[in-house]
Amino acid sequence: MNCAAILLLTASCFTWSPAIYIPNRPESKKLKYLIEPPVYAEVSGRRGENVTLPCILRTKPNHYKVKWTKLEPEHRGTENIVIISNGHTFKPYGYLGLRANLRKAHVMDASLQLSHLELEDGGRYRCELVNGIEDESVLVTLTIEGVVFPYQSKNGRYQFAFHEAKQACAEQDGTLASFNQLYRGWTEGLDWCNAGWLRDGSVHYPILRPRPTCGGELLPGIRSYGLKDKNHDRFDAFCFTSLTPGTVFYIAGPFSYSQAAQACKHKGAELALVGHLYSAWRFQNYDQCDGGWLRDGSVRYPITTPRERCGGMPEPGVRSFGFLDKSLQLYGAYCYR
Ligand SMILES: *[C@@H]1O[C@H](CO)[C@@H](O)[C@H](O)[C@H]1NC(C)=O
Repeated sequence: MNCAAILLLTASCFTWSPAIYIPNRPESKKLKYLIEPPVYAEVSGRRGENVTLPCILRTKPNHYKVKWTKLEPEHRGTENIVIISNGHTFKPYGYLGLRANLRKAHVMDASLQLSHLELEDGGRYRCELVNGIEDESVLVTLTIEGVVFPYQSKNGRYQFAFHEAKQACAEQDGTLASFNQLYRGWTEGLDWCNAGWLRDGSVHYPILRPRPTCGGELLPGIRSYGLKDKNHDRFDAFCFTSLTPGTVFYIAGPFSYSQAAQACKHKGAELALVGHLYSAWRFQNYDQCDGGWLRDGSVRYPITTPRERCGGMPEPGVRSFGFLDKSLQLYGAYCYR
């Protein structure tokens, strides 16, 4: 089946999730003071990069403030202010304020600059013109460009309670993925037959090639278990990561785990985290047909050009041998520096 057919089938078949429907502009009245952004007011950047979220005034009222807020889907009701400007000076607020600035490229420019993007900066931002009479706002969505990877405990399948999944992602240089990130990962080829936690406490798994052992012959799509009990239910995790400041490189073995760690150390590096390897695979097209130790004790290798003698699977991906006996002197080392 070709990709177009899969996507067509899928549009009508993946399970409903509250995360999918995001009205971009609830207000429909014509704006007087602010310039309407394009329908898809979306800005994207990778971790560490700088972005500008556009907000341009059409008309300047005599007295006004511009308030930028991040709309947090996870904390509905609380107002997460980033910056407030009165046209002359501005004041930053909260953890985002530390990295925020107003662009002020011209007198009508109220665009927000965010520097050194972090994994959790993605989401919707509101630029609000407050003049006490007719307040109005526009929404801009910031997307962090990255990669989603499934992560399983070294103790086996379905071992993580929610907070443990969150911790596991953090330990691999990631965060729990959002539904939209998982969805995007699926459109980019992610097919995974184990269910994992997402950031909102829901549990899903992405299937491109339906098979009886993975929830039956339903159409391709994101399979949903809905919201689960964060304390008592146990699953794997879907983590999200993006660009890293360092680079990954391979040293040929054969090494045991501790020899691999030592080999990296000799090069002024450390064994790479799973997130580092996925980032290199995604952003540097890293391809290495050799299993190597990672810091968590798993053995993996990244493939961007699938070929028969490298695992035989038809899709690009980071392959895993799982967690192996650390004394096995069989593999190389993936280092990060
Ligand atoms: C990003 O912004 C910071 C702070 O404003 C600046 O120091 C840095 O040079 C910028 N980086 C790039 C790549 O533009």
